[in-house]
Amino acid sequence: MSEASLPFNEKYSPSIAKVSSGEKRKQIWEESIKNPQEFWAEKAKAIDWFKAPTKVLDDSNPPFFKWFPDGELNICYNALDRHVKTARKNKLAYIWEGEMGEVKTYTYYQLYREVNKLAKALKDLGVKRGDRVAVFLPVIPELPITLLATTRIGGVHTVVFSGFSAEALADRVNDCGAKVLVTADGSFRRGKAVGIKDNADRASSLMTNIEKVLVVKRTGQPVQMKEGRDIWYHDALTAAGANAYVEPESMKSTDPLFILYTSGTTGKPKGVQHGIGGYLVWAYWTLKWAFDPTDEDIYWCVADIGWITGHTYNVYAPLSLGITAFLFEGTPDYPGQDRWWQMIENHGISILYGTPTAVRMFMKFGEALPLKHDLSTLRILGSVGEAINPEAWKWYYRVIGKERLPIIDTWWQTETGGFMISPAPGIELTPLKPGSATLPLPGVNIDIFDETGKPVPAQNKGYLVIKSPWPGMLQTVWKDPERFKLTYFGRWPGIYVTGDYAIRDQDGYFWLLGRADEVLKVAGHRIGTVELESALVSHPAVSEAAVMGKEDVVKGEVPVAFVVLRSGFTASDELRAELIKHVRTTIGPIATPDAVIIVNKLPKTRSGKIMRRLLKAVLTGAPLGDTSTIEDEGSIDDIKAAYAELQYQLAAVAAKKTQ
Ligand code: WTA
Repeated sequence: MSEASLPFNEKYSPSIAKVSSGEKRKQIWEESIKNPQEFWAEKAKAIDWFKAPTKVLDDSNPPFFKWFPDGELNICYNALDRHVKTARKNKLAYIWEGEMGEVKTYTYYQLYREVNKLAKALKDLGVKRGDRVAVFLPVIPELPITLLATTRIGGVHTVVFSGFSAEALADRVNDCGAKVLVTADGSFRRGKAVGIKDNADRASSLMTNIEKVLVVKRTGQPVQMKEGRDIWYHDALTAAGANAYVEPESMKSTDPLFILYTSGTTGKPKGVQHGIGGYLVWAYWTLKWAFDPTDEDIYWCVADIGWITGHTYNVYAPLSLGITAFLFEGTPDYPGQDRWWQMIENHGISILYGTPTAVRMFMKFGEALPLKHDLSTLRILGSVGEAINPEAWKWYYRVIGKERLPIIDTWWQTETGGFMISPAPGIELTPLKPGSATLPLPGVNIDIFDETGKPVPAQNKGYLVIKSPWPGMLQTVWKDPERFKLTYFGRWPGIYVTGDYAIRDQDGYFWLLGRADEVLKVAGHRIGTVELESALVSHPAVSEAAVMGKEDVVKGEVPVAFVVLRSGFTASDELRAELIKHVRTTIGPIATPDAVIIVNKLPKTRSGKIMRRLLKAVLTGAPLGDTSTIEDEGSIDDIKAAYAELQYQLAAVAAKKTQ
């Protein structure tokens, strides 16, 4: 890893803040690890509790840790009511821009009123403490409003990314047992109205529990409203009354706040369950440390609220801090490839929390586009979702940051609730290295282990693990505590396994090296190869499938599928295209395979396990290594031939395009 040995480079130390030795950060980190109880007791004071916790951590039943176990609070109260009581009342909470360029703003007070109306409407529909509310919405203001209204009355939300298929929606809604679904008629994509309600309708025959569906009118396209079940969102708000007020429920700190489904290495996506108190403390402090937002900032986290980044850093963290956040419904390159830069200029955005995939896409579009715009309001740049390669980091730093702004590369996961490894200008900005997420935040007791569970020396690759509980950690996997224990704590007792590879350099900086398991990161979206494989074998033509990640210059990696057909089916371009379409409709467009390679057999060990390592080697052109355990040597030649054939076809298509 040559980048890991990069010495601290003066060139990449931003001049806006004095970069210092890291002594202060080190001291705070050490204190947080030595005395976590005192440390977090102090930090918890930033939150408004209805009943202040007297205990920080109940660790009597690991790994089921309970943070602030006797505290009581309401997260919506922390996001809204407490600001409404102060001069912040009339400060903007959200500036939202739709795909078509329309802008809506909400002050904290206006947001509070909307949330109260919806909270009343949800109550009227029978939602009670602990009930699950499923949310299938594009990024429109009604999305955060629904989350806040749900948590105000003690409900638990499950947001399903609006790009998921009907089947994926139904799976998640059934697993969490939601009674109410909030959706929209549609949303705008590239200037066109696309349906969302129709997807929810397709899912409805599969959804077992849903009693009521609230429908936001976003596009005005025709939709079918089912008598007795479907209600227009605006009608429900009118019925609730313009002055509705709902007392926020006093919740236990350890009550569930939300369930968010994410991919793993086995079975269907798992419902990651976060609690209230620990999560909120974590959300609040991690945003403060990493982005140091102030009252003057306009903060933009580009993530869709359908993912964890949007939950924590578009809703709970910025609102609990009382800052102004920008939300955007749409596509980064519509109507022009400079849409982002145009919006930054128009709204005076000062903190941009983006993604490596977007940066690489903008690199491809060329630097003339951002240079056309006044980006001088920007103060801090961020990155999340996958490792940012040094080239992209440097481009971001040079072209967008004008060699002046720090790049805050934040490493974390759905399960961690918030940032874990990141620069922390809110404490002290330490030197940056392009491609490294730098150092663990306070409270994060992180290490890198070898196969045997021993810490590896500096500069050695290993498994990234977390050795002590932290407030933002998931509580469990919804309805499946065994899976929680096994997935995260099953390898080494008391040790949380992240599933990532990493190395630490001689300065203690962390470099993330991608997943150590069968999970893909496609444009930052987390997709398990097992889900893609199940989708493929659910097609009548497919008997076996193995999906691998292949490097991609923009998306980081893309799925490539090797499939074996059932007898009676023959390989053809039509069938390949159909299988790709089948995955799109079974999971959603984010899971679209880049290619489907049809082979006669997959390489297997004598015990019948697919040798994924060999498939990967074929994709990357790496040496095959040891093949002595292979069941049938011929399978490798078959795969190589099929892959070569595909490469040939792709080259032919590309050549035609450029003609
Ligand atoms: C990857 C997204 C390198 C990593 C917040 C992790 C990253 C997975 C980074 C979690 C980063 C996220 N550098 N890798 N800055 N951020 N990852 O649950 O593999 O969608 O395990 O959470 O994304 O993905 P998830």
